[in-house]
Amino acid sequence: MQHLDRRPRRILATSALPYANGHIHLGHLVEYIQTDIFVRYHKLRGEQAIYLCADDTHGTAIMIRARTEGRSEQELIADMKEAHVADFADFQIEFDHYGSTDSPANQRRCSEIWQSLRTRGLITTRNVQQLYDPLAGVFLADRFVRGTCPRCKAADQYGDSCEQCGGAYSPADLIDPVSTLSGAQPEVRSADHLFVRLESLHSFLTEWTQSSGALDPPIANYLAGHFLNEPLRDWDISRPAPYFGFEIPDAPGHYWYVWFDAPIGYLAATTEWCAVSGESFESWWHRGQTEQPAAEIHHFIGKDITYFHTLFWPSMLEVAGLALPTRVRVHGFLTVNGQKMSKSRGTFLLARTYLDHLDPGMLRYYYATKLSGGIDDIDLNLEEFTAKVNADLVGKVVNLASRTARWLEATGLSATYPDDGGLFAEAAADGEAIAAAFEACDCARAMRIIMVAADRANLYVDTQQPWKLAKAGPGSAAQLQDVATVAINLFRQIAVYLSPVLPVFSNQVGALIGGAIRSWDESQTPLAGISSGVFTPLMRRVEAGQVAALISQSLIETGTQAQPQGVQSMDPQTSLETPSTPPLHIPPPADLGAALTAEPLAPECTIDDFSKVDLRVARIVAAEEVAEAKKLLRLTISLGGETTRTIFAGIKGFHTPESLVGRLVVVVANLAPRQMKFGLSEGMVAAASGAGATGVYLLSPDSGALPGMRLH
Ligand code: 2FM
Ligand code: ZN
Repeated sequence: MQHLDRRPRRILATSALPYANGHIHLGHLVEYIQTDIFVRYHKLRGEQAIYLCADDTHGTAIMIRARTEGRSEQELIADMKEAHVADFADFQIEFDHYGSTDSPANQRRCSEIWQSLRTRGLITTRNVQQLYDPLAGVFLADRFVRGTCPRCKAADQYGDSCEQCGGAYSPADLIDPVSTLSGAQPEVRSADHLFVRLESLHSFLTEWTQSSGALDPPIANYLAGHFLNEPLRDWDISRPAPYFGFEIPDAPGHYWYVWFDAPIGYLAATTEWCAVSGESFESWWHRGQTEQPAAEIHHFIGKDITYFHTLFWPSMLEVAGLALPTRVRVHGFLTVNGQKMSKSRGTFLLARTYLDHLDPGMLRYYYATKLSGGIDDIDLNLEEFTAKVNADLVGKVVNLASRTARWLEATGLSATYPDDGGLFAEAAADGEAIAAAFEACDCARAMRIIMVAADRANLYVDTQQPWKLAKAGPGSAAQLQDVATVAINLFRQIAVYLSPVLPVFSNQVGALIGGAIRSWDESQTPLAGISSGVFTPLMRRVEAGQVAALISQSLIETGTQAQPQGVQSMDPQTSLETPSTPPLHIPPPADLGAALTAEPLAPECTIDDFSKVDLRVARIVAAEEVAEAKKLLRLTISLGGETTRTIFAGIKGFHTPESLVGRLVVVVANLAPRQMKFGLSEGMVAAASGAGATGVYLLSPDSGALPGMRLH
């Protein structure tokens, strides 16, 4: 930890508690990686940051699944917790505590909050009509019923809304309803439910959502426009038996609905962590504790569960007199190759399947380059993933050490840090902007700044050519040591900045040079006069075959299996299409020559013909969609210095604008400008496509190339 001349901030961060009825997939990991980066960053800065989470274990889905598998709910949730914990650990996600909502601590916290709601007179009872499955013997949540839409008559629609016409209705209005649990025709039965009268908290919620600073404006506006502009409806907070959950102490036969006890799991996880760490729960969650700086509470969630965390959860905290969230940070969903994750396409990728083929650090880095703190969906484009990891992590970062570390194995670093022309100081000064980006959860920006520093460092190595110094003999030994000392320091400096994203990689860098990285301050001072370890390759290039094997395995595991009955997830991200005859899509074997056959070589040209075409390296500095054009993105490219050009490129659908900004490409720089409907296009971006291609592949130069360099 670094030395702070103030008391450390106290930061409690949570991710949404994953349901215990399914395995962790790459969609979940967006949020856990985002939160983990946030917490690791703050720890590195010397703050007291903790990351708490738990399995979300209750509800009908678990009860039915346990029944189907012929075992108790407790056995099922214990196994799933073990699997979740292993998946998270292997993705280098480090919780300070990982609990379960099915715990005594949670039951106690639920009772306390319940008592507060009762005392404030906020609980009311109403009779509710609900569909009941007479074969399974359970009341059916809306998503366990399917039938014909009462409005547009589309078949096979969910119990509460129609995907065809968008209509919302009550499950009792469905035509020919069928229980997806047993196939039985459900009956309408009535039962008492307990409700929270949320309208009593309307003015509190308006004030907190609109003025506390806890929510980004789009979220605050969404709540204002969709919920807070009319009286708030009572919240149905109980379920009648049979239900897997906690029985309500003063309402026997009634259970707290899973969404009541799930967020309270944040409090329970804090309680359990406090018990083992000697901390006090009150100092984290009670208001007005003055002996310590107030704790900050940051909830990271997906956009689908916004209203639970921004209306119900703060209401419960308010009524219980507990601290309100400092920030609720909402992210979008994950798409893969531009589409919803799909079992039939092999893109419903489980964490464990990924781990069988690829390095977890690569996904952490890739997600970091995509996470900018907003609610836009994030696309995992597998080609871009491969290109980015190879170009940035392998080509720029690891390459720095692989080209220089060996020269230091025998000698260690130079006794004093050599003159590097200001390179270390320049990257040290970047630290402030990188820190601000991490603080704002704009990891993408942090990664861009870091990669520009890596470009500068590689240019230094290219210019100094240590391999030539090595061949030049003993007279150049001191200079060689100096060059390698500079390069390895720039490498370690980058590893410090990357360590919230790549903790294992950064540990390996520390083992090679300078010891474990523990503080952000280590990016500010170069090392000299110390020994160096023996370099071993820290990361290898991703090969297309690895990605193809991942998709193939995923198809085998998930694509050809129908969803087992009764195991539908309540998580919208996991309730994905499962067509009965999935179209198999296995990436074609590479290098069969289909592209060449389809488009034979052009007639020969002379070197003079070729040299008329001025191909240059350029950096994309801005990219946006052209709304009116199906295929075009408007790119602003820099050729270095002040020289920029606008180019309309037909790559929409293959590349998202945010994935392009900062990237190096090759452009035809002397192409005559062309007036298009949308503006003047001043060049062309080089890209490959052709027979057998599923995309348009942009060309990237090797590491070290800089904007303005000409291709010869
Ligand atoms: O949407 C989900 O996956 C829920 N299991 C999240 C619960 S978050 C919190 F409230 F516990
Ligand atoms: Zn309809």
